[in-house]
Amino acid sequence: MHENTKAITDLILKVREKSRQETGNEPAPEMPKPIQWPIQCLVGPGLEGAIACESKVGYVNGAKGWLVYRGYDVFDLCAYSTFEEVSYLLLYGQLPGNSQLKAFKEKMVKYRSIPSTIRLLANFPVATMNTMSALSFGASLMKQELFSQKQDNYRFENGRTISADEDSIPMETRPRGEEHAIYEFNRLDKTKESAEGLYPGADYESSLRLIAGVASVAGAVARLKQGNLPIDSDPNLSHAANLIYMITGKYPTAVQERIMDIALILHADHGINASTFATLVVASTLSDIYFAVGSGIAALNGPLHGGANEQVLHMLKNIGGSDRVDSWYENARAKKEKIMGFGHRVYKAYDPRARILGPLAEYLIKENDDPEVKQLFDVALALEKKVIATLGVEKKIFPNVDFYSGIVYSSLGIPVELFTPIFAVSRVSGWVSRVMEYLEHNRIFRPRAMYSGSFNAEYLPIEKRT
Ligand code: ACO
Repeated sequence: MHENTKAITDLILKVREKSRQETGNEPAPEMPKPIQWPIQCLVGPGLEGAIACESKVGYVNGAKGWLVYRGYDVFDLCAYSTFEEVSYLLLYGQLPGNSQLKAFKEKMVKYRSIPSTIRLLANFPVATMNTMSALSFGASLMKQELFSQKQDNYRFENGRTISADEDSIPMETRPRGEEHAIYEFNRLDKTKESAEGLYPGADYESSLRLIAGVASVAGAVARLKQGNLPIDSDPNLSHAANLIYMITGKYPTAVQERIMDIALILHADHGINASTFATLVVASTLSDIYFAVGSGIAALNGPLHGGANEQVLHMLKNIGGSDRVDSWYENARAKKEKIMGFGHRVYKAYDPRARILGPLAEYLIKENDDPEVKQLFDVALALEKKVIATLGVEKKIFPNVDFYSGIVYSSLGIPVELFTPIFAVSRVSGWVSRVMEYLEHNRIFRPRAMYSGSFNAEYLPIEKRT
C-alpha cells in the first residue's frame, strides 16, 4: 500500500473509533423476524416511517448514526475495501473471492467502454444541458447501445402484473394464490456461475453495465460541458481512478484515487431514500432497469437530496469567509432558510459519511495547499460549529453526507456541476442491488392519497365560469 494511502486508512480507523465511542458499542439491535404482511406502522407525511419492503442490502440506524452494507460497517469498508468490491457485495450479497473479483473487475472495464452511447450523447447539446439530465439521458441511451450490439432484447415480455388495487380497501394485502409477476431474469439460477465467473442473467448483466457505464457517461458529460471531446476509459485503471481521469483528463495520484474510491463507497447505498424509492417504483412496474436508474438520477438531482452537495459549495462561497459565518447564519435563521448540507430524514445523529468526508477534506487541503479550498473548509468548520450548537441541540440537525463531499471533490479538481453526477455514479450500485432484490418478490408500488377535496361539483360551460 502506498504510504500516503495508509495514512488515509489510519485516519478512517481513528474516525471509526471516535464514532464507536460516541454512538456506543452495543451489539446490533435485535432485528424483527421476516415481515408478515400486512404490517402496522405509523406513517408520517412523505411516507416517513412507512415500511415498503424487506431488504438485506443495507441498514441505517438514524438515532446512532450507523451505516451498514450487507452486515459490514461502512467504516470498515472505507478503511479496507474498494468500490468494485463493495458493488459486488451489494449486488450479490457477499464479498467476492479472488477469481470473482477478477472477473467482476474485467466486466467493469469492458462495460466502461460505451462508444456508441457516447457518440449518440455527443450529438445533443450537452454543454447547455443540466448535468443530471444529461446523465439520465445517457443512462437511457446505454440501452440503445445494447440494441445496436444486437444483443438480447432486455425488455420484459412475460410478466403479469398484479391488479388488486381498490381505494376502498383499508390496507392492501398481497393477494394469495394468484400468480405474481416474475421478472424474467429471476427465473435464472443465480447460484450457478457462468463461464465468465459471474451469475448469468440479463439483468445482473445490465446492473453491471449500469454500474460501470454511468461513470463513463458522467466523464463524457463533464468533458462535453467543458467544450472538450470525451476521452476513452483506461482499462488499466480502477473505477475510481478512471472516473477522475475521464472527468479531468488527468491521471490521479494514489491519494486522489483512494479518496475518490472512499467517496464512491460512502455514497453507494442508503436505505429507501428518495432516489432509491424512485428507482424501485419504476422497476416495480416491470419497466426496465435503465429507465429505473434514469428515474433515480432525476430524483437525486433535487437540492433536498443529492443536489445539496452543489448547493453547499455555492453557500460556502457565498458566505465568503469564516468571520462572516455568524452574521450570515443569523440572517438565514431569521429568514427560516434551510442550511444546505445539514439535517436528514433518518439521521438524528452525526451522519457517519460526514464523519469520514470532513477529515478527508482536511487531509486533501493539507496536501494540496490550495488557499481557495482552504477558505471554503474554514467557513464549513465555523458553520458546522454554529449549526450544531443551535439546530443540533434544538432539533438534532447535524452535517449530512453532502456537507463535506463538495470540498473533497473540489480538492480533486472536479467541477461543481459534476458533484451530483458523481453521487449518482456511486449510488447506481445501491439502486440496482435493491431493484434486483425487490423484484424477487415484486409488487407494484401504489400508496394512496387521503382525498380532501370536494364532491358534487357542478360542471359549468366555460363562458359561465368566474
Ligand atoms: N436547516 C435548517 N432547518 C432544518 C434543516 C436545515 N438544513 N433541516 C431540517 N430543518 C428543520 C425544518 O425547518 C423543520 O423545522 P420545524 O419542525 O420547526 O418546521 C425540522 O427541522 C424538520 O425538517 P423537515 O424538512 O421536515 O425534515 P425532513 O426529514 O422532511 O427533511 C431534509 C430532511 C430534506 C434532508 C432536510 O433536513 C433538508 O432540507 N436539509 C437541507 C438539504 C440537504 O442538505 N439535503 C441533503 C440530505 S442528504 C441526502 O439526501 C443525500
